[in-house]
Amino acid sequence: MNEQRLGSRMRYGYFDDINREYVIERPDIPVSWTNYLGVKDFCTVISHNAGGYSFCRSTEHHRITRFRQNGVPLDRPGHYVYLRDDETGEYWSLSWQPVGKDFTKAKYICRHGLSYSRFQCNYQQIEAEQLLFVPLEDDVELWDVRIRNRGTKPRKLSVFSYLEFSFHHVEIDNQNLQMSLYAAGSNYSDGIIEYDFFYEPWSYHFFASNFQPDSYDCVRDKFIGNYRTETNPIAVERGTCGNSTDLGGNHCGSLHKKLELKPGEEMRMIFMLGVGSREEKGLDVRLKFSNLNNVDSAFDDLKKYWDKKESVLQCKTPNQGFNSMVNTWNLYQAETCVVWSRFASFIEVGGRVGLGYRDTSQDVMAVPHTSPDKVKERMIELLHGQVSRGYGLHLFDPEVFKPVEDKLPGVKLPTVVPSPNPSDIIHGMDSVCSDDALWIVASVCEYVMETGNAEFFDQVIPFADAGEGSVYEHLKRSLDFTAEQTAANGICFGLRADWNDCLNLGGGQSAMVSFMHFWALRYFVDAAKFLGRENDFKKYSEMAEKVRTAIERELWDGEWYARGVTKAGIKIGVKANEEGKIFLESNSWAGLSGAASPERACSAMDAVHKYLASPYGIHLNWPVFTKPNDDIGYVTRVYPGLKENGSIFNHPNPWAVIAECKLGRGALAMKLHDALLPYNQNDMIEIREAEPYSYCQFVIGRDHPSYGRARHPWLTGSAGWSYTAATKYILGIRPSYTGLVIDPCIPAGWKEFEVQRRWRGATYNVKVKNPDGVEKGVRILKLNGEIINGQIPVQGVGSVNEVEVTMGKVTQSKTGKKPVTAKGVSEGATSGHT
Ligand code: GLC
Repeated sequence: MNEQRLGSRMRYGYFDDINREYVIERPDIPVSWTNYLGVKDFCTVISHNAGGYSFCRSTEHHRITRFRQNGVPLDRPGHYVYLRDDETGEYWSLSWQPVGKDFTKAKYICRHGLSYSRFQCNYQQIEAEQLLFVPLEDDVELWDVRIRNRGTKPRKLSVFSYLEFSFHHVEIDNQNLQMSLYAAGSNYSDGIIEYDFFYEPWSYHFFASNFQPDSYDCVRDKFIGNYRTETNPIAVERGTCGNSTDLGGNHCGSLHKKLELKPGEEMRMIFMLGVGSREEKGLDVRLKFSNLNNVDSAFDDLKKYWDKKESVLQCKTPNQGFNSMVNTWNLYQAETCVVWSRFASFIEVGGRVGLGYRDTSQDVMAVPHTSPDKVKERMIELLHGQVSRGYGLHLFDPEVFKPVEDKLPGVKLPTVVPSPNPSDIIHGMDSVCSDDALWIVASVCEYVMETGNAEFFDQVIPFADAGEGSVYEHLKRSLDFTAEQTAANGICFGLRADWNDCLNLGGGQSAMVSFMHFWALRYFVDAAKFLGRENDFKKYSEMAEKVRTAIERELWDGEWYARGVTKAGIKIGVKANEEGKIFLESNSWAGLSGAASPERACSAMDAVHKYLASPYGIHLNWPVFTKPNDDIGYVTRVYPGLKENGSIFNHPNPWAVIAECKLGRGALAMKLHDALLPYNQNDMIEIREAEPYSYCQFVIGRDHPSYGRARHPWLTGSAGWSYTAATKYILGIRPSYTGLVIDPCIPAGWKEFEVQRRWRGATYNVKVKNPDGVEKGVRILKLNGEIINGQIPVQGVGSVNEVEVTMGKVTQSKTGKKPVTAKGVSEGATSGHT
């Protein structure tokens, strides 16, 4: 076992880059370290202790297993396997919890991999393993369990599975128990537990195994026993289940098998948790996965699914943490966000579903290269969630636009199971966030630049309220809406809020949205140019120029940019303020958007380093708010150092990295990137607490006693943006409509790095050398031995291309274009620009 205590520093595991796994060697982590199983409809959020829950499509309306959120002990119940020594009566679980054996005697390892988790346990010469995953094509979670006798004498053992079924809808699971407790039933036959649900007589779940059980329990309280918990269930203690079933009550899935293992012998068993009835699904699924070859090939397919994605972009740089995160974890997290938006975790456990307009619009921007179809599907849903006036529905469930199947015509169920109407979800101006529909402009353009699918601009998509329009028209409406929502001084209104949910400004003016408007306009202008739509090119270029002029005139505060103006007319994010003098959003967006002059963008970032940066990343604002002020917003009522009030909010950190890259300051970009990088906090879990393989929503700021503690992993915009910053701006490889731009911005100390990038069906092996130790600037670019000026043109499908890049000081560009210099902001705001 690796050394876990490093002085006072703590670590609980390590990155296994070869297998793309994070290996947890010590299970008593202060918080749950989670993973996501399932990449389509069926999902399980699972902790390093096998705690967690499953659902299909919706955490709110299609829950499969139950989870007692925010409970003690941590993350119960879960998907557990117990082992019992039938000669001594001693028992343990294959994950450390729920039994919680002394882990200095029982060795526990949890390997979180890409859409699977493997729990390994070695106790009293019994080596056991539980691998959990969801095959790509079946709504079923498989538990592939192996038990080996490593001793010299034969052993008699019992194996028990355990999970607790949910009442299907989170609401029904948690309230009105006088109804709920009589709403679900269980039965057993043919080796399959079937669970049915009275409120929706078409809903069934099942739990099966590849063996004929010796006993079973479907009733939770019979398995656990009175005044006991999952730690010491009576059935396991006794050595047999009670063959319980019931109509009403709480239900579970426990299948029990007795084994005799000779020395060296191994036994493999499969458990299956699935959606559907015994007749319709259970019997077939049981048959299919009782064949171990089918289990193996399903696991193989899952591996290939991720290998294919990860192989689209792989890098080898001198920074090991950077490589690990970019090559495996950061992409994995970004992809997970696209699938589940924000609403499936241990933080969001049902109660909210659907898509956050701004959240998903940003998430999809990061992964069009690895999930073009999913990204397109999400964008269509988002564009459908845009009203004809141009704004986006802040939080909506795209299911609402799909026809509802009337499963039981004419029957009124005793409790209302919601079937919302599209018109119910269309909110008015009171709830409009000023940023929501601006993000999608960039998402669409990034998607087309990646895939070359320019026809997408012409695809017709309905508006949420009335009418329809091409994707291109949707984008125009979004830009026009923001233009319309602009104050007399030319700065955009903040409306209910901008990206910062808690900074409401009483509905005043938002600097961030003005920067965003400029940025989205630049994307659009590039698209219009590419599509040859001259009038729009002209009109929106002029609009962008107007926005830029207003920003420079109204928002500059001498050293950095203001954050906004409250409704009462008070400027915030300026030196004159007592609290909230400087904010990260406006000052990173100054550089990121390309709206600010290079001198001002530099000065703004210098101020970010001076006032907001820390060893754990950049704080959102300084000084923190300590006095409630509703003219500024709810942020003034949040504890100092937490969330939007002066925490190290992860999501905007990569914006600052991008700004530094656009300024050509590679060392500073890397410094900021490294500070936030979860990998770099692997050995300080006593401070960080959260997973070192996942970006978090925030790290607690210096004004709070728990400075450095990270909270809310996985579903956060920091995943996609960190990936974008690292790949498109530090490594500097980004597609445009017509070519691949190579524009790295790195620390001078990087002498070389390599990237393998697949783009539009061709492979580009990019080898970058930096003999002069510069931070930015490409002196020589060669494609397959030939010198290229500018971008790399699209190469033939299936071709493998060698790209040699020599960085160095650039004085005069051969194309006559303005070169990128160490200090200069690169032209334009969009990805494709050099
Ligand atoms: C949360 C929200 C996101 C918002 C951010 C800042 O992460 O999901 O929509 O932009 O907080 O307030």
